[in-house]
Amino acid sequence: MPTADDAVEKSRRHDHEWFDRSRFGMFIHWGPYSVAARHEQVMLREGIDPEEYERYGDYFDADLFDAEALADAAWRAGMRYAVLTAKHHDGYCLWPSALTDWSVARNLPGRDLVGEFVTAFRARGLRVGLYYSLLDWHHPDFTVDGVHPQRGGDVAALNASRDIDRYRRYLHGQVVELLTGYGTIDYLFFDFSYGEGRNGLPGKGAETWGSEDLLRTVRDLQPHILVNDRLEIPGDLVTPEQQMPAAADGTAQRWEVCQTISGSWGYDTTALTRRTSQQLLEQLVTATSQGGNMLLNVGPDARGRVDRAATDVLADLSEWFALHERTVRGAGPVAWQPPSGVVATGAGDRVWLHLLQWPHRHLILPGLRGRVRFARFVHDGSEVVRAAHRDPSALMNEHTVFRVPVGDEALVLPVVRPDVLLPVVELHLAPE
Ligand code: GLC
Repeated sequence: MPTADDAVEKSRRHDHEWFDRSRFGMFIHWGPYSVAARHEQVMLREGIDPEEYERYGDYFDADLFDAEALADAAWRAGMRYAVLTAKHHDGYCLWPSALTDWSVARNLPGRDLVGEFVTAFRARGLRVGLYYSLLDWHHPDFTVDGVHPQRGGDVAALNASRDIDRYRRYLHGQVVELLTGYGTIDYLFFDFSYGEGRNGLPGKGAETWGSEDLLRTVRDLQPHILVNDRLEIPGDLVTPEQQMPAAADGTAQRWEVCQTISGSWGYDTTALTRRTSQQLLEQLVTATSQGGNMLLNVGPDARGRVDRAATDVLADLSEWFALHERTVRGAGPVAWQPPSGVVATGAGDRVWLHLLQWPHRHLILPGLRGRVRFARFVHDGSEVVRAAHRDPSALMNEHTVFRVPVGDEALVLPVVRPDVLLPVVELHLAPE
């Protein structure tokens, strides 16, 4: 017997279909830490006091930020939604909040970077999301805890005058500002809870944030919004970081992996590791094959520009997406176990084989004998021929004849790997 809760759940699922279809989004970490250029948590890592940290606000120029160009780059790279850090742990607000002057109003009068983002990305056709840090290392009422830049000081003395209830009201007030000032917000990404405590000091979680109330307010203001899972109460999806969830089987809860190019989220000239475009694309198609999404991060610099590493990745992905969009967008898991080195996604009667390695001539498709109507490459539409089936008991010259195992299908690949970031073979299947 369906209950009222089932109906709500069903309509919420429907509301979030855009997310499941999109598969790929852009994360944008940007704020005064881009001036320091050594990780978005530089304030914590170096134990910087709020007053001293404020100078990064003074030099946060954002003069070259071109939200339209970034939205266009995201769209062309195959992304269909984006999430901007409206406020990160340093507390600085990218919008002119009425509740604090630690915001763009301080150094960029007349600018509203949240507004610029929302307008440009929405106009380009992307869904818009905001990241909001529950932590706030600048706010005078946010008590010093085990993940606070001032945790090395006299914590009791520092906390004596701090009133966390007042901070909670501030947090709720800011979320209301964000959800009432910019039209439809599709996605709210809270970050993060640590109710279990950290480094020997009590932490903060659902109780401190007033998560139940907050989530109710969020859903009242934006009934169709998607909310993540970091309020220490369940949300609409889970958001593992820089790794794939264990044993994702396509049937579990909605999920999205967020990923960086360099390891840092904020602009960081000291982070020298780089993931290649190919690695990132492999992760995206793997997420798709397991029913999840990927949110790929860029960290604009202090002037608002995205660095070469990120523009190169976006350009590579654009080239690939221009030819292969259908193997990701609207695609999902298939009920078939592909051979190793192959990531399979599907939709309807199509299966897309993403070839992480270039097989030596033959690609065996276990159990698909008689099911493949046609096989071709996606990038150029060219046919991939099937190996002739021979009677495995017949006498054969092993040097020239390839034997397709009974029940399996086999494709004969050209010797030369197609010149694309990740080659994909499309199978058109006959019904079972
Ligand atoms: C972590 C980090 C934070 C980053 C976030 C992205 O929670 O604390 O700096 O913004 O991951 O998901």
